[in-house]
Parts: sequence; structure tokens; C-alpha cells
Amino acid sequence: MAESNTDTKSSNQMWGGRFASGPDAIMEEINASIGFDKKLFAQDIRGSVAHATMLAHQGIISAEDKDKIVQGLNTILSEIESGNFEFSRRLEDIHMNIEARLATLIGPAAGRLHTARSRNDQVALDFRLWVKEELEKTERMLTSLIAAFLDRAEEHAESVMPGFTHLQTAQPVTFGHHCMAYVEMFGRDRSRVRHAIEHLDESPIGAAALAGTGYPIDRHMTAKALGFREPTRNSIDTVSDRDFAIEFLSIAAITGMHLSRLAEEIVIWSTPQFGFVRLSDAFSTGSSIMPQKKNPDAAELVRAKTGRINGSLIALLTIMKGLPLAYSKDMQEDKEQVFDAAESLELAIAAMTGMVRDMTVNTQRMKAAAGSGFSTATDLADWLVREAGLPFRDAHHVTGRAVALAESKGCDLADLPLSDLQAIHSAITDKVYDVLTVEASVASRKSFGGTAPSEVRRQIAFWRARN
Ligand code: ARG
Repeated sequence: MAESNTDTKSSNQMWGGRFASGPDAIMEEINASIGFDKKLFAQDIRGSVAHATMLAHQGIISAEDKDKIVQGLNTILSEIESGNFEFSRRLEDIHMNIEARLATLIGPAAGRLHTARSRNDQVALDFRLWVKEELEKTERMLTSLIAAFLDRAEEHAESVMPGFTHLQTAQPVTFGHHCMAYVEMFGRDRSRVRHAIEHLDESPIGAAALAGTGYPIDRHMTAKALGFREPTRNSIDTVSDRDFAIEFLSIAAITGMHLSRLAEEIVIWSTPQFGFVRLSDAFSTGSSIMPQKKNPDAAELVRAKTGRINGSLIALLTIMKGLPLAYSKDMQEDKEQVFDAAESLELAIAAMTGMVRDMTVNTQRMKAAAGSGFSTATDLADWLVREAGLPFRDAHHVTGRAVALAESKGCDLADLPLSDLQAIHSAITDKVYDVLTVEASVASRKSFGGTAPSEVRRQIAFWRARN
């Protein structure tokens, strides 16, 4: 799609009445948004069709002009879709590019389309429609990611792995339980997306420049035609705010943070030192010099995309924070931030969904790691409380001595002979070995939300019914 940049010195055809000459080349360059807002062409045309239809229904333009306008707009839609539309920077943005082409196609009737409307409500409409579609897409993508985790969680409801705090082995958990932690996070992200759709589901068109219009328009009709719940209530707010875009970016930032933590775990788990997972060839790369390497590049890039998304959020918050009501041209800078973040977020969700589905889980490595690092020490302390009636603080102390002994002998707690344990506390019997295995430890944690396989299966059933 070529961009023509001829005739810079003639005055603008949209407001030329007052202007003797055209803009300076730099003015044109800083002012134009067509380079990125051409992405809004379908939304712009959809909005214009709804607006023209309403104008005719209200008797503001004739049915004949409306038909010409709608036909012309449909022609433009297919021209753009097939790459046969020449975007012009001289015409600044997508709205004026389409309107100018409409004039060429249908003549003077094109000039009636902009009755009772301004580019201020037009751009607010186009952008809202775009963000709404993107949110709906994000919702679907999160649903697929959650589904991938549910499948892996089901498969590994009993697979024991070390649970960490401070990245130090803490207590054994199941890999299924760990997967379900991500289901909770992405489930909340998805509900934030749903709320955002609810917030922005109001139609801006008809707010006009900022004050509404004297024409007898029907904003409920256009709202309905465009799939919005209702029209916005205040025309000044309608053309002034971009909180719907900021809300999208906030959600993208939070989701990106969750994706990045997952990516970080995959990077760690796939090292030879951990060896918990093996990435599929589809989601890793090799090294050009070290033949043994398999690098988690996709996970690393997901981790890095967070930086871009956070940057976009801060950029738009900063753009908006000092603007007096109503519209200012600063707001034109909203789109690139959202487009860039949306692209990053889509890629990141898709990549993580693929990785989660494809990765091979090494349950043996996980189980072996779960048993090392005295991960069942809490189970020993709990046993002393339960079976020997010790206060937890004393049990903690006794257990600490057992851990120190095992450490000095270079063995696990379960490998200490009973005589050693009894030397530390006489109430210990051989029954204690039942709780010192990682399986027993995990199975005992049946509290609501806990890591016991039975509890993990209950969590999976809860989410299956909601996904
Ligand atoms: N390209 C502009 C934008 O994205 C459209 C609105 C222009 N409105 C105006 N009053 N200059 O914000």
C-alpha cells in the first residue's frame, strides 16, 4: 500500500475554507497518524455505515444518499482488504483517507456522511471497537491457556515435585497443584478482561466534537447497530477519556507479569541442573556453536515482552495525565501503545500455551528433587505434635536437630535409623517413617486448596465446569 505525499502545499480539503496554504512538511509528518491508524479501517467503515443508516432513518440525510454512502464504503472496504487502496499521509488519518476516497467514488453525497459527527467521536468509536475485539480475543486465548494447564494438571495430579519458597526447597507439592496455581492467575486475568469489556461496552458515536449535536440523531440506534449495550452518557467524557485503552494495557501488564513468571520457571526447570521439563523442539532453539544446547528462547522472549507491555502502559498513563477536557491531539498517541502491547500479549499467550502443552515433564527428576533438602521436615514436626503431643515450637526444635544430624551424615530424614531419632526424642516410634516420604507428605495436605491429589482433582473439577 503506497503512501502518496504529493501536493503538500495546497490547503486541506476538509478544513481548507479557512486555510490559505497547506502544512509544512514537518507539520504533516508529526500530525499524520495514517501510518498506524489504518489498522482501524474496518471499525471506521462499520461506524460510518451505522451512522449513515441512522442519519437516513432520522430523516437527516436522504435514503438515496445513504445508499450511495453505504455502497461506496463497502467498495472501500474491499479495496483496503485486497491491498488496492492508496493511503495518503497528506490526508492525515484513516478517517479522512476513507472520506476522501468516498468523495471520489460517489461525489457530493459523501459530504453528508460527516453530519452530526466529528472525528473526535469517530476515533473514540473506532478505537473502542478495536479494543473490544482485542479483549474478546484475549479472553478466548486465556481460555485455551487455562485448558492446557487443566490437562497437564489432570495428568500430573499425583506427580510429586519440590515446592519452593525463596527458590529453596520448602515442602513437597504436586506438579498438578503447581499447574493449578497458574489456572487461578489466568482465571483472574480473564475475569479482569470480562469486566473491561463490560466497562467499555458503550457507544461513543453521536457525542460529536464534545458537546453533542443539534441534529435529531438516535444514539441508541447506532449503539445497538454496533453491538454496544448502550450509548455513553456524557459527550465530554466520551471524547476525552481513554481509560478503556489504559484498562486494556493494565490487564495486559498484569497478564504479562503472570506469563513472565511462568516463563521464568520454564527457563529454570529446563536447565540440565533442574531437568524438571524438556521443551519440545517446536519451542526451543539450538546453539550455533554448542551442539549440546537446547535454549528456551520462546520463554525468554515472553519474559522480555513484559518490558514492552509495561512501557506501553506507562506511556499512555503519562500521555493522558495532564490533558484538560475534552479532546487534545496528544490522544492520537494512544493507538501505537495499544497495538504494540496487543501484539506482544497475543504472542506471549500463544507461545506459553504451546509450551505448556508440548513440554515433557520428568516426573522422576521432580520426585527425586522433592525428597532432597529435608522437604518433609515440617511433616516430622507435625507428627510430633499429633502423635507425641509436643507443642509446635518444641516439635520444630526437635526436628531441627534431626535435620542437622541428617545433614552431618549426608542422608535424608527418612534414612536416619530409628535409634538416632529416638536419641533426639524418646517419643518417636517407627510409625514416623510413614510421614517422611514425599507421597505421604503430599497426601496428608488435604486442607481446602491444599496439594493432596484428592484436593487438586477437586480444584480441576471446579475449573473444568467454568472453562
Ligand atoms: N487522528 C486523530 C486521533 O487519532 C483523530 C481525531 C482528530 N480530531 C481532531 N480534532 N483533530 O486522535
